[in-house]
Amino acid sequence: MGDYLALGEFPATRLRRMRQSVFSRKIMQEHHLSTHDLIMPLFVQEGKQMQTAIDSMPGCFRLSLDHVLAEVETLVQLGIPAIALFPVIPKEKKSQLAEEAYNPQGLIPSSIRSIKQHFPEMGIFCDVALDPYTLSGHDGLMNEAGTDVDNDRTIDILIQQALVQAEAGTDVIAPSDMMDGRIGAIREALEKHGFPSVKILSYAAKYASAFYGPFRDAVGSASQLGKANKHTYQMDPANTNEALREVALDLKEGADMVMIKPGMPYLDVVQRVKETFRVPTLVYQVSGEYSMLKRAVTEGILSEQAIVESLLCFKRAGADAIITYFAKDVAILLTSKMR
Ligand code: PBG
Repeated sequence: MGDYLALGEFPATRLRRMRQSVFSRKIMQEHHLSTHDLIMPLFVQEGKQMQTAIDSMPGCFRLSLDHVLAEVETLVQLGIPAIALFPVIPKEKKSQLAEEAYNPQGLIPSSIRSIKQHFPEMGIFCDVALDPYTLSGHDGLMNEAGTDVDNDRTIDILIQQALVQAEAGTDVIAPSDMMDGRIGAIREALEKHGFPSVKILSYAAKYASAFYGPFRDAVGSASQLGKANKHTYQMDPANTNEALREVALDLKEGADMVMIKPGMPYLDVVQRVKETFRVPTLVYQVSGEYSMLKRAVTEGILSEQAIVESLLCFKRAGADAIITYFAKDVAILLTSKMR
């Protein structure tokens, strides 16, 4: 603090001087938001010509592959570097053992192949977790007593899921399941099966958050999960030291990037992770954050600028990139501002 005071005193120092013109505000801007920072999540569903509104996420849709391809074309034109795919699996394909998660002809592998064929330059992030595929709605298989997920048996399935996605051509495997030891196991399998270039984004610090509600609605895992919760694998929102341990382990096991999730209520975690590890750090502005902001903007309570501000604040906290349902809208805003 002493150093700051030594820089000057009023009136020699007037901090408002630099704020008084557009040019000087621009040149002293410390952090910047660009389209290149944005990753767009997409919900994929089976069928053709399907575009189903998600009630709890106004403006977001479950898309069949033909619509996904049209959307990706727009995203490429806007300069968005990557998408994150999430499947909507019909109930009859969910099972106790989540076999559909590693079906090579399944919704996600087929989507990857088709997107890569048409838009090879678009980066694809694929979620690795079993919740869209299990009857329980949990991210893992249940133990025999049905009291908890079975960590190690789940890892065996996650490996198969990751290999099927890698085979289909995904660029990034993004395990969001929070099982212990899965990053190392997936990394080893990728090396062994000839996928040394496939990147891993670990959802390293993923909290057991109420902000995922609308997402569970979107992929239809809410009804499966019922009153159950994910407290035995996702983190307690009260903890940050534990987040650092999660990140340290995942990096050691071979993660190329780490993620903090949710975003806005967890900026302190983003900052600590970035300062401690200085590795590519991503943040996920999750469904609940999206829906709150979207509704406030739609109802005229907040201006659209609140959305851009929320993303810029992630950059200030230390995030390198942001997964956000606003990616497309904000890319359009940023592009129109440049003109
Ligand atoms: C699945 C998964 C979830 C999200 C991303 N991957 C939900 C959950 O863990 O229950 C949440 C994303 C969002 O809320 O936008 N493992």
